[in-house]
Amino acid sequence: MSKRGAATSNGLTKLLAALDDIVDQHMETMISIGDPISRYYRQYQQQQRIGIHGLLLETFQQLFSEEHEYAAFQEALAIEAFKWGERWAQAEIPKEVLLEVLYHLRLHVFQAVRETLADAEQKEELLSRLHEILNLRYHHTMRGYLTYKDQQISHLHQQKIGIIGQMAAGMAHEIRNPLTAINGFLQLMQTSVHQEKESTRMDAEQFSQYIQICQHEVQTLEQLVTSFLILARKNESVEMQNRRVELRSLLERVHELARHYVVEKDVQLSFHYDSEEYQVWAIPSYVEQIGLNLIKNAVDAVDSNGEVRVSLQMGPAGNHVLVRVEDNGCGIPEKRIKHLFEPFYTTKEKGTGMGLSVCKQLVEEMGGQIFVQSTVGEGTQIDIHFRTKL
Ligand SMILES: Nc1ncnc2c1ncn2[C@@H]1O[C@H](COP(=O)(O)OP(=O)(O)OP(=O)(O)O)[C@@H](O)[C@H]1O
Ligand SMILES: [Mg+2]
Repeated sequence: MSKRGAATSNGLTKLLAALDDIVDQHMETMISIGDPISRYYRQYQQQQRIGIHGLLLETFQQLFSEEHEYAAFQEALAIEAFKWGERWAQAEIPKEVLLEVLYHLRLHVFQAVRETLADAEQKEELLSRLHEILNLRYHHTMRGYLTYKDQQISHLHQQKIGIIGQMAAGMAHEIRNPLTAINGFLQLMQTSVHQEKESTRMDAEQFSQYIQICQHEVQTLEQLVTSFLILARKNESVEMQNRRVELRSLLERVHELARHYVVEKDVQLSFHYDSEEYQVWAIPSYVEQIGLNLIKNAVDAVDSNGEVRVSLQMGPAGNHVLVRVEDNGCGIPEKRIKHLFEPFYTTKEKGTGMGLSVCKQLVEEMGGQIFVQSTVGEGTQIDIHFRTKL
């Protein structure tokens, strides 16, 4: 038997005999160390125990292996530990937990092995190899973890850039039309001012008409910027403005405001609610804006004999109030439904595509939810759930 062989039968036997105790001790320490590490260990107790058992068994065997075998093991260990780190990152285990686990594992194993091998032959050599193995595992696990996190961050960053690009392109497109119109009318007025002959100059009425068109376009731009800012803002400060409001009287006001949408079209707009009061958490101006946006969309969607129906009812469990806006219009093909809430998504010549994305943002700021159901050729139904409790 070689020198290393003799030491193996002695030292390895001792270590293998102590293996279960070392694992138990490590598990006990980690479970009592405090959250979040203890929580993690309790949650995955079985897997952790099996994982650490296997890992130590391999480590102990490698303390006694021949040089060429040990070199191959080091290579394999680097790869395996790297993957292990990646898996921890995938499982969203916080880095604090990972660092603590690796630290304690190193500490416990090293202490336990040192005690077990107290009077083994070649003790220093074995401990130095153990030190090397534990360090390698630590280093490559962290490398795997951090590499995965870095990739995730750069992926998110790419996605963000993509979204910003899309938003900017949408915004630029929507700004260009009103600007072109304003520019055109200003040029007409400018040319007229410089006309020598009075007969070819515009009269005051025409001027006033052009100015009105420009004003209208400026308003469109203002609305666009307002919508854009609603989508861009953070929620926290707005949520604070939620208060208890009575929804029925708010909808009555929406009813008043919405009447003029239907005067030019053959549409029957009806509101349905009983005499009860519906107390919800909301921001009144938002409810108006949402109501008007949805009714406007419904009116746009219907043809002759159009019907737009707004109703209000208590949700089944009493924790939300349901407002439904439904129409018997063209409906929305299923593949388009997922795009409805994207800013600038529109199928209308004069639409900006901001209506529904702003609605969704406002509903969510009030802690509510919005749902769409639609059948092509039959109509569309949009439901808003308002919270009754905080
Ligand atoms: N009730 C509805 N029936 C059929 N299609 C609808 C309905 N509501 C929305 N849509 C579809 O969803 C698209 C997006 O609606 P959204 O309100 O966001 O923008 P828009 O109405 O096109 O423009 P804007 O609201 O800015 O005037 C519409 O262009 C339309 O294709
Ligand atoms: Mg709209």
